[in-house]
Amino acid sequence: MTTTANGTAEGTQSGGGAAGGGPTQEVTVGPGGDLVFEPAELTIAPGTTVRWVWDSDNHNVVRSSQPEGADWDGTEGGDSETYNTGHEYSHTFTVEGTYEYYCTPHRSAGMVGSITVQEGGGGGGGGGAAAEQDPEHMGVPIQAHFVGIATILMIIVSLVYTFFVVKYGESPHTEGGN
Ligand code: CU
Repeated sequence: MTTTANGTAEGTQSGGGAAGGGPTQEVTVGPGGDLVFEPAELTIAPGTTVRWVWDSDNHNVVRSSQPEGADWDGTEGGDSETYNTGHEYSHTFTVEGTYEYYCTPHRSAGMVGSITVQEGGGGGGGGGAAAEQDPEHMGVPIQAHFVGIATILMIIVSLVYTFFVVKYGESPHTEGGN
């Protein structure tokens, strides 16, 4: 049993999602009578709730593996209980790692699924590269902009000054002094 790690595992989550205000992902169980979970593989961010919705009869969601410290059990009754069309079952995943599950009656038919919980997961299943972009990195281009603008301003001022000198003589002030 994974009991001792529960408190600390949840404690390391950076607030916010703990209240259950996270996003929800839906998995269809037995869509149209097909012996599959759809999608079979799901990547989500910590704090995301997964909702399984039964679209045909005689299925369940039974955990086969989960990360250390996680407390997911799957549908009530384990292997001995199945559920029918219209049933819904939800669980909010907070501990990062990979969770694997199956449907007891149809496991041998390939009715299995997995959920990967990772920071930056979810959405369209994009890579983790975007999550590595620190907001601090944005400061560099902004500073570069200031330097560029200052340089351009100096060039413009020089050009304007040169223009006046060329057009009106030695300096702009000579025009009024005639
Ligand atoms: Cu099934």
